[in-house]
Amino acid sequence: MELQNLFFLLILITQALGASYNYDSNGDDWTDGVCSTGVKQSPINIVLSSATVDTSLGEFTLTNYNDASKYGNIKNNGHTIQVDMADDSVTLNGGGLDGGPFNLAQFHFHWGTSDSTGSEHTVDGKQSPLEIHFVHYKASLTDLATAAGTADGLAVLGFFFEVYPSDNANLDPFLDAVTSVANKDQTATLSSPPVINAIFQNVNTSLFVRYSGGLTTPGCNEVVQWTVFTEKIAISSAQLAKIRLSYQESSGTTLIGKNYRSTQDLNSRTVKISYDPDISAASILTQNMLFLLLSAIVGFLY
Ligand SMILES: *[C@@H]1O[C@H](CO)[C@@H](O)[C@H](O)[C@H]1NC(C)=O
Repeated sequence: MELQNLFFLLILITQALGASYNYDSNGDDWTDGVCSTGVKQSPINIVLSSATVDTSLGEFTLTNYNDASKYGNIKNNGHTIQVDMADDSVTLNGGGLDGGPFNLAQFHFHWGTSDSTGSEHTVDGKQSPLEIHFVHYKASLTDLATAAGTADGLAVLGFFFEVYPSDNANLDPFLDAVTSVANKDQTATLSSPPVINAIFQNVNTSLFVRYSGGLTTPGCNEVVQWTVFTEKIAISSAQLAKIRLSYQESSGTTLIGKNYRSTQDLNSRTVKISYDPDISAASILTQNMLFLLLSAIVGFLY
């Protein structure tokens, strides 16, 4: 057998193995790639007070994120609900990322079986009910597959959700489409989705954590420059219930249920934070105290 054929056979075998993973043990039983041997794995628990403040990371430049015509299909791959981009024109740069620009390939979700579990990253030990990952590959590396095999080749933006009493209408086009792609391998097109950045329109994208990690799915390649935003996106409990209607089998009998990996050891990695979390907490406290003071004055006058 020619070396090239052997190489492709190995890729096929790896893909076949990779395709068979599940979340029964939250990934603790994955042996693919570097899942069990790596030292820069993801997700991690982010301890805000232990993160190194780096105010020089700077702002992100998001290009064509404000274009609603860039969506490709929404699909169920048996592990998550994923929305592909139609082309490579939605890009990310800045934010202290190394080697940009990066092209957005897809975004997908991680959830749990209840409103108190679901996110992959945790903050100070706390899980959110849902986490969305916007997966970008380094534009100079041509495509996602090549970048996934190259150090620092990927830039993933992670956003947390939090339960809010009313629906977040910007999420409906995606969550409503879940019924069309409930079974593994089904795809659909989105009807009237919002511009891409509407999904996180209320999040201050200057407030984030940065660390070097990997894919949270097999083979857990350690090629990701991670950005995790600290402000959260609102979602209702009823909306969360919709994404849990996704099946991991084409027969539509077994729900995905949960699709978050356990947090991994930080080892010797540094977690950077783009702002001083103590100062922010202090300024919010100051604002609240100012409000109380004003209320007291107004109360006194009237
Ligand atoms: C976002 O956060 C930065 C850093 O704390 C702050 O300077 C900026 O005013 C915030 N933007 C908004 C819209 O709140």
